[in-house]
Amino acid sequence: MLTIQDLHVDLPTKAGLLHAVRGVDLEAAAGRTLAIVGESGSGKSITALSVMGLLPRGAQRRARRLIFEGTDLSGLSDRQMQDVRGRRIGMIFQDPTSSFNPSYTIGNQLEEVYMRHVGKGRRSARDRAVEMLEQVHMPAPGERLRQYPFELSGGLRQRAMIAMALMCDPSLIIADEPTTALDVTIQAQVLHVLRELQQRRGIGVILITHDLGVVSAVADDVAVMYCGEIVERGEVASVLARPRHPYTNGLLACLPLIGERVAGSSLPTIPGYAPRLTAIPRGCVFAARCDRQDRACHETAVTLASVEGRHAVRCLRPVQSVEKYAHA
Ligand SMILES: Nc1ncnc2c1ncn2[C@@H]1O[C@H](COP(=O)(O)OP(=O)(O)O)[C@@H](O)[C@H]1O
Ligand code: SF4
Ligand SMILES: [Mg+2]
Repeated sequence: MLTIQDLHVDLPTKAGLLHAVRGVDLEAAAGRTLAIVGESGSGKSITALSVMGLLPRGAQRRARRLIFEGTDLSGLSDRQMQDVRGRRIGMIFQDPTSSFNPSYTIGNQLEEVYMRHVGKGRRSARDRAVEMLEQVHMPAPGERLRQYPFELSGGLRQRAMIAMALMCDPSLIIADEPTTALDVTIQAQVLHVLRELQQRRGIGVILITHDLGVVSAVADDVAVMYCGEIVERGEVASVLARPRHPYTNGLLACLPLIGERVAGSSLPTIPGYAPRLTAIPRGCVFAARCDRQDRACHETAVTLASVEGRHAVRCLRPVQSVEKYAHA
């Protein structure tokens, strides 16, 4: 459904060009959830924004392929891209207050999206809004339509956001840290709603998170990002059970063993610093923090290579891990 090949994004900064995304390859498929996980600043949001044509001013994007349902997104005008965003790709952000206008009711905003993109009148837009609020299990949907965003709790606002993303029946939803601002119980409810919709409606979901608990709870596939690159990817069952990249392995080793989800398990920190994205070192970008590094790691460009089926890793000396984590 979505194919990204060799995506690069450079951002102008005072310190020079910042290479935020470097050679990312991703596939999102109908009816599956792809999680993109990585520490803050690893390029997750910039990757998502570049698919949606919402990059910051001055950003330079290039990709070998950027194809969504047969459409080459790199060739679209701003206007055409707006239409893709409205109708075919739904977006959910961490902070729904940035997506809702505080001065209009929830109903007004849901209906507006539908009328603008589908070209139907107010009455059918209202019916659609109620139906979508029901789909996200919003209590008393009729009443919610008349409320303003600030009148809803964080969890309900996020449900309203998902309902808004669904209004035009998108085939892909991109959710950037949709539950990060919520407490753990509410987080689980919102993730459950997303998962259910993805399964029932066959939607493809790209879920960005810094939380491995979220990955193990809801994703089918995972891509681990570090410094603008994917360092490991594959099916969740394979990657979390047998992580091969020292970074992924380190992240998982720091977590308590889980069968059930770890409460608020944001990514543990691995000692050391990531290189500056304005001055990327020659060899492996993780070398400065890696306890397996040797000379070749600093000198050789490292590519993503398959280790087993669709499980791929960007490492010259991948961990030969046994199945020691109970995540998947
Ligand atoms: N508007 C911007 N201008 C300059 N640099 C930015 C901008 N937005 C993000 N960046 C930089 O791009 C890199 C990737 O950011 P981002 O994709 O937001 O990371 P993540 O979502 O993984 O936390 C970071 O180094 C960040 O500082
Ligand atoms: S390539 Fe070398 S430095 Fe990089 S992650 Fe693998 S072992 Fe570590
Ligand atoms: Mg982000």
